Amino acid sequence: MVLATKWVVGPDEKGYFWPNEEAKKHAWVNDPKIYEEAAKDPVAFWEKLASEGITWFKKWDKAYEWNPPYYKWFVGAKLNVCYNCVDRHVEAGKGDKPAIIWIPEPTDEPKRVLTYNDLYREVQKFANVLKNLGVKKGDRVAIYLPMIPEVQIAMLACARIGAVHSVVFSAFSADSLRTRIEDSEAKILITADGYYRRGKIINLKQNADKAVENTTIEKVIVVKRAGIKVDMKEGRDLWWHELMENVSSSCEAESMDSEDMLFLLYTSGTTGKPKGVVHTTGGYIVMAYWSSRWVFDLHEDDIFWCTADIGWITGHTYNCYGPLANGATLLFYEGAPDWPEKDRWWQIIEENKVTVFYTAPTAIRMFAQWGEQWPAKHDLSSLRILGTVGEPIDRDAWMWYFKHIGGSRCPIVDTWWQTETGGTLITSLPGIGPFIPTVAGRPFPGVTADILDSEGKPVGGDTGGYLVIKSPFPPSLLRGLYKDEEKYIETYWKEYGKEIYFTNDGARWIEGKYIRITGRVDDVMNVAGHRLSSAEVENAIDSDERVSECAVVPKPHAIKGEVPVAFVVLKNVEPSEQLKQELIELVKQHIGPTAKPEEIIFVKELPKTRSGKIMRRMLKALLKNEPLGDTTTLQNPESIEHLKEAVGYKG
Ligand code: PRX
Repeated sequence: MVLATKWVVGPDEKGYFWPNEEAKKHAWVNDPKIYEEAAKDPVAFWEKLASEGITWFKKWDKAYEWNPPYYKWFVGAKLNVCYNCVDRHVEAGKGDKPAIIWIPEPTDEPKRVLTYNDLYREVQKFANVLKNLGVKKGDRVAIYLPMIPEVQIAMLACARIGAVHSVVFSAFSADSLRTRIEDSEAKILITADGYYRRGKIINLKQNADKAVENTTIEKVIVVKRAGIKVDMKEGRDLWWHELMENVSSSCEAESMDSEDMLFLLYTSGTTGKPKGVVHTTGGYIVMAYWSSRWVFDLHEDDIFWCTADIGWITGHTYNCYGPLANGATLLFYEGAPDWPEKDRWWQIIEENKVTVFYTAPTAIRMFAQWGEQWPAKHDLSSLRILGTVGEPIDRDAWMWYFKHIGGSRCPIVDTWWQTETGGTLITSLPGIGPFIPTVAGRPFPGVTADILDSEGKPVGGDTGGYLVIKSPFPPSLLRGLYKDEEKYIETYWKEYGKEIYFTNDGARWIEGKYIRITGRVDDVMNVAGHRLSSAEVENAIDSDERVSECAVVPKPHAIKGEVPVAFVVLKNVEPSEQLKQELIELVKQHIGPTAKPEEIIFVKELPKTRSGKIMRRMLKALLKNEPLGDTTTLQNPESIEHLKEAVGYKG
């Protein structure tokens, strides 16, 4: 038996793990001085990274421009993201290297490997398909695809011709898709007939059909994945494979301005309406490239697997743009982690010799509950680095991951970031460390983060506060919310003014140097790593005419981190089990299965402030059995007794 390489030492007396000599030698960055050097002149630092990592058609005139709360990076520069992710690797003679190893869910179906040559050909063909359908630079293209390589091909094809993609998570409902299409005014939708999930075929086309009626969508392109019979609307619906049959495989990459929009990605905010986060070209790809390279220490022979769905920002940056810009090999799995058995992920790692593995704490907690016998069945010695993202990771989950997946050999990089930041902003680097359970780490070199109190003063010691980012802002930070400037300012630039980006996360310093994230401080929930707004779920429930009003708040959950719980006040109808089920179904229909409330609690009234605002904070405390604070300031303090009873509050 070959002894697997060890990459960490520790824990030390503080419980920290550190890279060992082997890891330091291997890593792209291993000298902590990089943080101080970058901090001396962050703009110059990013300029250097931009020049070294990315191929530009024209260099920038000015690196950074700041008119609070707006900023630009690499002003005047020209480039193409698709060229950077595909062409340049082919031109460098790496065309035969696998770019995407795709694993279908059915175990009797062979995996599909797309080399950079394959991508080069397919992407150009599909770019021509889009052009032939009249898609021009700046047009929006909606993508509602499962985890199949056509999704990266479609995204890269958009980037190639300068179209703006808006990828919508395939488990979102028809209603969610429709809202996003309407907001972005997309004229093309790319979808599939269906896909596999736990051995069953999910009919995606049906949802797409419901979503596009009476919208701006002119054509629907359908990938044949599941081979099921679907309705194809004459004149509107077109098969991907037919369009790709007789199309030229040569399509020049458009020269894009650094600040041209690359994509839109809708995410949940504090209102019922999802926000279209705007990412631009130059800054985004610089961050995607360097964060992939340094955080995951990607080298020529790595096989990188990020389990995030392509419909989330993690999928965009680390299942497409980042690794591909690096010319790396990424693994992309279609299906469920427990199909056909609870060791499917570990089997995939063993069979494909995955070296870097990136997943969410919620998945780790689920596997921990299923038991270590599942990973123990497989040889996971190919693994070198583990990563987590999406929510705070508790010590137990961290240790389980470290021991049972990493064999106590691999560092865990806990990466903090957001849809808005485009790439990882806070983490430990594999060649520098330390790797501390429950602590994300240091701001990425060139990033300035701070923790402030509610007055805006930096907190010292280990007092908790609010996480902010300061100028020069990371090149990949959002440039706006699509068609909603007011919301952009209100969400990020109001709390501390126009010069400080408010993350809406709580955090605390560890030793004044490392950052522990404590979670959202706004009405956004984090359900199994999925970002969900209270208001969106409330809107869905309120749409039932029997409901007078409702409030949705997160409740701690052992596996999912948080789950939504709905407090519902009914009009003149009697509460019943059936009504509960109907309301849960309504949420599923409006948003998708991930948003389903875990519990519906019928109550007589909701606690309100004197100005009539629902006190969600108090509801959260009730669910957590935490002290409620001063209830006398409520408009209806008498509501509390009844609520305590309804939730079984022990105080
Ligand atoms: O609360 C933070 C949490 O996820 C939020 C961002 O969600 P989303 O835009 O969907 O992006 C998730 C993937 C980047 C953050 O505001 N979050 C993300 N990563 C971490 C985290 N919380 C703690 N630790 C993390 N590593």
